[in-house]
Amino acid sequence: MERSGIFDMSRRGVLAGSAATAAVTTMPRAAQAAPAPAEPATGHVSLTVNGERHDLTLDTRTTLLDALREHLQLTGTKKGCDHGQCGACTVIVDGRRINSCLSLAVMHDGDEVTTIEGLGTPDKLHPMQAAFVKHDGYQCGYCTPGQICSAVATLGEIADDVPSHVTQDLTAKARLTNDELRERMSGNICRCGAYSNIVEAITEVAGEKA
Ligand code: FES
Ligand code: FES
Repeated sequence: MERSGIFDMSRRGVLAGSAATAAVTTMPRAAQAAPAPAEPATGHVSLTVNGERHDLTLDTRTTLLDALREHLQLTGTKKGCDHGQCGACTVIVDGRRINSCLSLAVMHDGDEVTTIEGLGTPDKLHPMQAAFVKHDGYQCGYCTPGQICSAVATLGEIADDVPSHVTQDLTAKARLTNDELRERMSGNICRCGAYSNIVEAITEVAGEKA
């Protein structure tokens, strides 16, 4: 008797479940459809990149890195980690280096951006590019555009007496010591380990001894 009761309850449960499933599967399609995703917000931004003005309409979530690479086809700037940890995406904005993967393009309306393509050309290299070639400051080259932009910005900081975390005397003229160079370039990672050659290249352009 006990077994029969259990069996009856189970059977009722199965029948109820089947009925519920049938009800759901016969609902009109429109009632089952997930709500349509919201349209992404777009914004206008005017960037001057390597001396040329560009007016862009972008998804407001577009990073400066993606704007350069995907919208302006300036693929010299590399995407490494996309999380602000490797420096491959370094560009110079209004004279200061930034990680372009961490910055939204719409935040740079009216800004002047310099990428590796704007520093020199194959026929007329920027002195920092020439020094990297001379000193073998790269192997695979993936980090190199970011390294060079960062190096150029470093020399700009020294010229402008901008202190760093390791600057000892804030009243003295800034100098590119090894400690200063390593600190200022510390955001640019080279997986190939070309660091000593990179240091030689930068110190030569700075007119300092490594
Ligand atoms: Fe931007 Fe790595 S790609 S810091
Ligand atoms: Fe290969 Fe730096 S040269 S990562």
